[in-house]
Amino acid sequence: MSAPTTEIDAGLPLVHAVNVTKAFHGVEVLKGIDLDVRKGQVVCLLGPSGSGKTTFLRCINQLETIDGGRIWVDGELMGYEERAGTLHRLTNKAIAAQRREIGMVFQRFNLFPHKTTVENIMEAPIQVKGENKAQARERAIAMLARVGLQDKPAAYPAQLSGGQQQRVAIARALAMQPKLMLFDEPTSALDPELVGEVLAVMRELATEGMTMIVVTHEMSFAREVADHVVFMDGGVVVEQGDPTSVINNPQHERTRSFLRRVQSEPQAVEHVPESLRDAIIAEKHHLGTDPGLNEVE
Ligand SMILES: Nc1ncnc2c1ncn2[C@@H]1O[C@H](COP(=O)(O)OP(=O)(O)OP(=O)(O)O)[C@@H](O)[C@H]1O
Ligand SMILES: [Mg+2]
Repeated sequence: MSAPTTEIDAGLPLVHAVNVTKAFHGVEVLKGIDLDVRKGQVVCLLGPSGSGKTTFLRCINQLETIDGGRIWVDGELMGYEERAGTLHRLTNKAIAAQRREIGMVFQRFNLFPHKTTVENIMEAPIQVKGENKAQARERAIAMLARVGLQDKPAAYPAQLSGGQQQRVAIARALAMQPKLMLFDEPTSALDPELVGEVLAVMRELATEGMTMIVVTHEMSFAREVADHVVFMDGGVVVEQGDPTSVINNPQHERTRSFLRRVQSEPQAVEHVPESLRDAIIAEKHHLGTDPGLNEVE
């Protein structure tokens, strides 16, 4: 038998993680994580360094194998097939097929330095999905416009600011037409004045209905954009709920001390700009330069 049929009902969450465990060299870093993310929801994962946030994201898209528990994405059991009550690892090909439905954006953008923005965005659709070049290019150009960089198709990463590079990385993930986007501290490597433009793009994506799991220390994003906030510490979910309850009225001392610490650090943005356009205008004002949205004057 395959996975219990109730798990693939359309009404179930897009991401359904149950009792996920993961150890590295005998040290358990995920100690039974449960998480549900409904279609269109934005979930923020908060937690101190080493709490397991990155590991959990990597387990969702099978960059790490899990030791116990189950993760379903859109009704599909990730990485495994259940036969006669036993889990069998899927083939690499089947795992790659599952993974291409999930976009991931990291702290470091990892763009190919010798490829232009459009070539960076076209790469995976051509190599992974076997799309033809013309189609991939057309979508790449559309995705660049989506992140406000329609005027930079021929730029190389080194010619772009960190914020622009991260927007290209988001466009690259979107070009695969994922059903889920995972963000791992997408703004933490950026100069503070470039954080707003990336958060604004993420906010727009959220508004359009993209399902997203976002690891971030930007509390404004968690407060203003997330539907649900999860606080992790030491490989467990300590508490979760709607942003206002968790952030303004945390129930656990560990959450309180984490929030005190984060909120005492300077936050890059007090408010997430409503749109990329707003963010660019604010930046222009701040920098006196053009961060790359031509029509904004
Ligand atoms: N590949 C690995 N090999 C061994 N240990 C690892 C590996 N990846 C993560 N760890 C350990 O697992 C624990 C959780 O790490 P993880 O990167 O998931 O934390 P995090 O919450 O993302 O932290 P940060 O906020 O610093 O990014 C840490 O103790 C880390 O050292
Ligand atoms: Mg991390």
